[in-house]
Amino acid sequence: METVLITVGKKVDKEKIYSQAVDLLNQGEVVAFPTETVYGLGAVATDDEAVKKIYEAKGRPSDNPLIVHIGTIEEVSDYVEEVPEKAKKLMERFWPGPLTLIMKAKPDVLAKSVTAGLPTVGIRMPDHEVALELLRTLKKPLAAPSANRSGKPSPTKAEHVYEDLKGRIPLILDGGTTGIGIESTVLDVTVDPPVILRPGGVTKEMLEAEIGEVAAPSLKEQQLESTPKAPGMKYTHYAPEAPVYLIERNREKIEKTVRELQNKGHRVALLAPSNYASIPADYFFPFGEEEDRKQMAANLYDALRACDKTDATIILATTTSTEGVGAAIMNRLHKAAGGKFI
Ligand code: TXA
Ligand code: MG
Repeated sequence: METVLITVGKKVDKEKIYSQAVDLLNQGEVVAFPTETVYGLGAVATDDEAVKKIYEAKGRPSDNPLIVHIGTIEEVSDYVEEVPEKAKKLMERFWPGPLTLIMKAKPDVLAKSVTAGLPTVGIRMPDHEVALELLRTLKKPLAAPSANRSGKPSPTKAEHVYEDLKGRIPLILDGGTTGIGIESTVLDVTVDPPVILRPGGVTKEMLEAEIGEVAAPSLKEQQLESTPKAPGMKYTHYAPEAPVYLIERNREKIEKTVRELQNKGHRVALLAPSNYASIPADYFFPFGEEEDRKQMAANLYDALRACDKTDATIILATTTSTEGVGAAIMNRLHKAAGGKFI
């Protein structure tokens, strides 16, 4: 299959581009599109055959459910049994935006493979012009996981999608680099207090300011949990080819570790804030400025993917505080490193 990549940008023939994408989706095909978090791989969420193509293209285990994307808040009641009061407040405040709400699914409305057999469904309204225009032209919900091969870092650029899925999907809508850079916060509102199943762009602090107490498992608990509530969290994730190790942000320690590894014959890639550039690693990928966690989030996956383009044999990534979006960054880094510290 030939994979076509179309830049949406400010073109005048935008309508033609959207109708091409909508035609493919209505024919049961999959299409990759940008959101404000990462690129998604979409299929019509009521078409079981189409949704199965997502799992196939990604090589995704079939017990890992997909997020349903909608273009308007009103639609949510078409797909869920009830919208809890707290969920209503959160939608008003954070949609469109990087917050996925897990609610009780209406039976037999969405394709079976969307929910992977669970009685619940995750829904969000993305905050991206291209995603919203696509949804509103299609007038149907889109089931969409991140548009990477399963286990790889999520795509923050159309080129990342192309690298992973070329020959496997017919169309990628290129809307440039995604803004936030890590996936949406997944919040289970079927329980009280609601539980964060995956930290993301909408932080615990932001949620609590709106609805009061929100539970969030610590990094340790996330690792120890043998049957995580978000099925996706149990797989190795976000991982480049070379092994990743986490390291404290301590200049002397990093310098010493880099030297020791090089003496053992390693080629070291270092992911760290830009002011660590003088450390003599073999490759350096800046995350952003020190303490600028928004920038770190935006650069993280591109940096992990860039490591794959080098001949580095080991990757060191510096840790950050778990304040604000730092919780999501550390969650992803932990997964990428398989919990390994040096
Ligand atoms: O930002 C995002 O959320 C991106 C963009 C494309 O919207 N999508 C995304 O999807 O990250 P995906 O499939 O890569 O991650 C969805 C996560 C998985 O960890 C999955 O297990 C969890 O959400 N999830 C989905 N439905 C669920 C449900 N009913 N109950 C619990 N967890 C669910
Ligand atoms: Mg994913």
